[in-house]
Amino acid sequence: MDRGFPKEILFQSIEDRIKHFENRTMGHPKLVKSYEDLMEKFETLSGKGKVLLVYGPSGVGKSTLLKKVRSEFFNKYYEEMTEDKGLIPVLSMETFAPEDGKFDWIDFYFEALRNLQEILIEDKRLPLTEIGVTIPTDKTKRKLRNALVNAVKYRKVKVILIDEAQHMTKVGNSKGLRNHMDAIKSLASKLEIPIILFGTYELLSFRNINGQLGRRTTEVHFSRYNSKLEDEIKAFKYILLYFQRAYPLHEEPDLLSEWKYFYKHTIGCVGTLKDWLNDTFNYKMKQNEETESLILSDFKKFEPTIDQAFLMAEDIRRGETQLKEKREEKESKLDSWLGLDHQEEKEEIKRNTNKRPGERKPGRDKTGTEF
Ligand SMILES: Nc1ncnc2c1ncn2[C@@H]1O[C@H](COP(=O)(O)OP(=O)(O)OP(=O)(O)O)[C@@H](O)[C@H]1O
Ligand SMILES: [Mg+2]
Repeated sequence: MDRGFPKEILFQSIEDRIKHFENRTMGHPKLVKSYEDLMEKFETLSGKGKVLLVYGPSGVGKSTLLKKVRSEFFNKYYEEMTEDKGLIPVLSMETFAPEDGKFDWIDFYFEALRNLQEILIEDKRLPLTEIGVTIPTDKTKRKLRNALVNAVKYRKVKVILIDEAQHMTKVGNSKGLRNHMDAIKSLASKLEIPIILFGTYELLSFRNINGQLGRRTTEVHFSRYNSKLEDEIKAFKYILLYFQRAYPLHEEPDLLSEWKYFYKHTIGCVGTLKDWLNDTFNYKMKQNEETESLILSDFKKFEPTIDQAFLMAEDIRRGETQLKEKREEKESKLDSWLGLDHQEEKEEIKRNTNKRPGERKPGRDKTGTEF
């Protein structure tokens, strides 16, 4: 059966085989769906300064999705880039955990400018004198922000992708949170391009203060595989099969028959799974050059512990519940505001008062005949 790699790889150096496996990225259903969903939403936002949230559990594959979006944009604008050496279609960056617990905008603007400079310098597309992206010497928030706005417009950036964006929610109180979201939205609207924030479920706190925007167009949920759903178990098993075949080993290891073990320790997150499979392969190959296959005890050495899995599961549960509850809570508030809940109560009272004494509620009769 085809294992998705040319046979020669089996005879290459250990380093090459390890690299080869690490670079294998599977377009599994949830990744593909999140990608398509995101690109479709981008099209509707394109040209408008809107903010799009992409959230999901830690280790689900969010950064992988970001990389795919980034490379898609570079492909899309490839021709234009060869004609216009200064064009940068995507600015992609990561935010860092704030040292003092509060997200720092100066760091953010500085990092964004540094990224734009780096792209031009690393690609050697323009001579240094023509970079046109300058970092002000006076690094005040306003100066840096203006420099970023100018650079983004000058370089005709089409979209900004921000990874680990949950750090931007670190503010301490809800007023600060609203200010941060307003700052991101106003930046997007000033630049007239979408800003896409990728992050964990902590990003949901932005979502919850963002009620006035149409949700459907402004968010993508990249979820894990849920073992309570048959289709998703099937997909998770298929992913295991794909990776076991992809190992450049003479003998294909058997991960599939242990799917529950792999699922339990990853909570159905493909990124966490892949890191684990990478680490196991890397170690085993370096330890023994003659390795031909992998067995369960090899994986046990690098498994995310039950404590870690438990914490991951708790985070996921919190995020998923928050998503569900918020919707139900909002729906019931909406009903109450529109008076629909009272309407139901009134109808219920009317139904009850119309009954003659001695009549029984139809629902109570087990046989439940109609009349
Ligand atoms: N579909 C995939 N196929 C192969 N490898 C993958 C896939 N998705 C993710 N990975 C790998 O799994 C690891 C973790 O994935 P990634 O960094 O994208 O997850 P994440 O959701 O961004 O995690 P975090 O919340 O920790 O930032 C990376 O090494 C990545 O290359
Ligand atoms: Mg990530």
